[in-house]
Amino acid sequence: MYNYYASDIIEEVRVSNDIVDVVSEYVRLEKRGKNYFGLCPFHKENTPSFSVEAGKQIFYCFGCGKGGNVFQFIMNVENLEYIEAVRLLADRARIQLPEGENDQEKEKALLKQEIIKINTEAARFFYNNLNSKQFENARLYLKERKVSDHTIRRFGMGYSPEEWDMLYKHLTVKGFKDENILKSGLVISGKNGSCYDRFRGRIMFPIFDIRGNVIGFGGRVTDSSVPKYMNSPETIAYNKSKSLYALNFAKNAGQKRMLIVEGYMDVISLHQCGIINTVASLGTALTESQGRILKKYAEEIVIAYDSDAAGQAAAIRGLDLLNDIGCNVKVLIIPQGKDPDEFIKKNGTEEFNRLVDKSLSLVEYKIKVLKKQIDTESTEGKIKFLNKVSEVLVRIDNSIEREMYIKKLADEYKISEEALQSEIYKKSKPKANLKTVTASIPSEKTSRKNISGKHDNKLVYYERILIALMCIDNSIYKDIKNKITAELFSEPENWQIAKEVSERLQSNKSMVPAELLDILDKEAASVFTKIFQEECNYEDNYKAVLDIIKRIELYKLEKRKQEIFDLLNRKEKIEGDVEKLNQELSSLIIAIRKMKES
Ligand code: GTP
Ligand code: MN
Repeated sequence: MYNYYASDIIEEVRVSNDIVDVVSEYVRLEKRGKNYFGLCPFHKENTPSFSVEAGKQIFYCFGCGKGGNVFQFIMNVENLEYIEAVRLLADRARIQLPEGENDQEKEKALLKQEIIKINTEAARFFYNNLNSKQFENARLYLKERKVSDHTIRRFGMGYSPEEWDMLYKHLTVKGFKDENILKSGLVISGKNGSCYDRFRGRIMFPIFDIRGNVIGFGGRVTDSSVPKYMNSPETIAYNKSKSLYALNFAKNAGQKRMLIVEGYMDVISLHQCGIINTVASLGTALTESQGRILKKYAEEIVIAYDSDAAGQAAAIRGLDLLNDIGCNVKVLIIPQGKDPDEFIKKNGTEEFNRLVDKSLSLVEYKIKVLKKQIDTESTEGKIKFLNKVSEVLVRIDNSIEREMYIKKLADEYKISEEALQSEIYKKSKPKANLKTVTASIPSEKTSRKNISGKHDNKLVYYERILIALMCIDNSIYKDIKNKITAELFSEPENWQIAKEVSERLQSNKSMVPAELLDILDKEAASVFTKIFQEECNYEDNYKAVLDIIKRIELYKLEKRKQEIFDLLNRKEKIEGDVEKLNQELSSLIIAIRKMKES
C-alpha cells in the first residue's frame, strides 16, 4: 500500500500541504511558543493538549497520544486509508497524481462506478413507476402519508413492482452485464440460475452518498406485511457504517446543529417541513465513523430517536459514542412515544423546533432515564439512584459543570453535596500524569518506561531517538554512518527504519521528521512523533547523537558483563570455558571504564 505512489511525489504532496493550514481547517489553533495548540479532534477535552509543530510539520496530542504528519492527521480526522489521504491532499494542493498502476485498485474503482450507474438506472426506473397508472396505489400511499410531489422528486423516491424480474429485465435491456447487476445487490440469483429482483412491491428510497451518487436503496411495504423495510446489502459502493441518509442535503443546511433520526420517513418529513439539517442512521446503531462524519459538519448533534425502550438504549449508546469522540450531544424527547414524522405532522414545525430547543444534555438525559427506571421514593431506591447518578457525573471532566449538577441533585433529593461529592470521588480513577517535556537525554531511570512493550525497552528507546535525531539534522549522518549497522540495533524494526533513512541520506537525499512518518505504520508514527516532540529538544544534536550511541554501546557492554557474572555464579559447573569468560569479563570492565571516562 505504501508503495502505491513514488515516494518523491508523496513528499511533494506533503510539503505542499502545510500542516498548520490543514489542521486549522478542523481545529481552532492558537500559537504558544513555537507550537500551536488546540482542542484535540480525536478525544474529548476541555483544555487544549493537541499541538502542532510547524517546524517539524507534525502534530501530537499529549492527552490521547495520537500523532503524526499531515497524512496521518487526515487519515484520522477524515477516517481515510493512507492512499485516500494522499489523494485528498494532492487535490487540495492541485497536484496531479499519476494514474495508479495498481490494477486491482483500478478494477475496484471501475466496478464501483458501474454499480453506481446500475443504481442510478434502477432509481430512474422506480421513480417512473410512480407516474404510471398501473402502480397508482403506490402514489396514493405516499399521498396519504403527506409526501409532496416536490419531496418525491427531491429524494428520488419510487416504486418496485410486485413482479419477479421487471427491474432485472429493464437493466438487461439497458445493456448491463448479469455479473455486475448481481453485484449491485438489486437482483438475486435463484437456485436454478434464474435472476429475480430483491425489492418487489415496495416504496423505494435511494440512498445517496455525500456527492449525491445512488449507492443503495431502502424499500418499504405499502401495507402491514413484514419485513416492513428492506435495505440493499453492502456492496463495493455501499458501506452502511459510513453512510448517513440525506447527508448530501443536510450538509448544505449551513447550521451549527445536526439532527439524527432513525428512519427514512422521519428524514423526509422533516426535510419537507424545512428542517433540512436532519440525517438518519437507518436502523443500525450509530457507528464511530458516522459520528466522525457528523462532527465534521456540526458543532452540536441532537439525537431524536423513538422514545420507546429500545430507542432509549440506542440513544444512550449513540450519545456516549458521540461524546467520546468529542461531539457536543443532546437528546430530543418526543412526547407520547411518537416518532419525529408523526409529531411534526400532528403538531407542526414550530412545535417541533421548540422540542429541539428544549433538548437535554447527555447528563440531563441520563439522569432522566435513571429517574424513570428507579423508584426514588424509598430510601433504598434513593441510594441506588444517587449511586448510579454519581457514575454518570464522574464522567464529566468539566468541574464547573459537575459542580452544577451536584448542587441541583443535592437540592432535589435533600442530601448533602459533600455526600455526593465523596461518592463521585470514590468512583474517579486517578488520571495518569502527563509526562513533562524533557530537555536533556533521559536518564537511565526515566527511560525505563515501556515504549514498545517488547525487547529491551531502554535500547529500543535509545535507538528511536537516534533515528529521530538523524532526521532532525541530516548533516550528522556523514560522521556516524559507520556506526549505523545491524549490530547496533537490538530491534529489527528499528534497524529496518534506520537502514531506510541511511540509504536516503547516503544517496544525498534528505529525510525530514514528517517524511520519516510516511515510511511507518500508524502506531510507529505516533511513537516517533512523541519522540520528535518530547525528547528531541537538544541544544546540540550532534553531541546528543554521540551520547546516544555511547549509551547504546555502554548498555550492551554492561548487559554482557552481567550475563558473564550470572554464568560464573551459576551453581552447575561450566565446562572449560571459565578461563575464557574471565578474560572477556576483564576486558569488558576495562572497556566500560574507558567509555565512561571519555
Ligand atoms: P414508517 O413506519 O414508514 O413511518 O417508518 P419509520 O421510518 O418510522 O420506521 P421505524 O421507526 O419502524 O424504523 C426506523 C428505521 O429502521 C427504518 O427507517 C428502517 O431504516 C429501519 N427498519 C425498520 N423496520 C425494519 C425492518 O423490518 N427491516 C430492516 N432491515 N430495517 C428496518
Ligand atoms: Mn414512522
